[in-house]
Amino acid sequence: MRSILPATAAIMLFVPFASADPIEDREAIMKERSQILRTLGPIAQGRTPFDADTVLAALEELNANAQAHDIEALYPEGSEGGDATAAVWSDREGFIELDAEYRAAVQAAVAAAPEDQQVFRASFQPIGASCGTCHETYRAD
Ligand code: HEC
Repeated sequence: MRSILPATAAIMLFVPFASADPIEDREAIMKERSQILRTLGPIAQGRTPFDADTVLAALEELNANAQAHDIEALYPEGSEGGDATAAVWSDREGFIELDAEYRAAVQAAVAAAPEDQQVFRASFQPIGASCGTCHETYRAD
């Protein structure tokens, strides 16, 4: 029984993104992360009051979202299009590397479990920066 649990959890995580179209699926993941940033961004900027529970819950969602960004499944050969640039396929290694950097930044922020706005802001900065770095090369305007 016990061994079934992790597999079930993994399947549930992927359900919201399960459609037949990888372009739709990857755009849904990207939309979800920008939605989560609508909670985190204003707190990092000091425009919304800091709340440790809200921040940690949002960071955990962002982490689950980052894990769901499965490059092989979401950007297979033949799925060129959407707003992904040709570089996603021609410079696969670079794309995988920036995805890994993004994941690491999100994971580090979760691990920091920020208890105040300054610590949170410091761990949020590399997350926001890596959205932009990846889009520069791999997302069309
Ligand atoms: C490793 C690269 C990478 C990282 C990191 C990344 N993105 Fe993206 N993003 C893409 C690519 C590629 C697309 C284009 C996907 C498509 O349209 O096929 C995209 C598209 C988007 C879109 C448009 C979705 C749509 O509806 O068409 C939004 C919004 C977005 N990203 C937000 C974010 C935010 C916010 C972050 C950081 C928290 C982020 N992305 C991090 C690669 C990345």
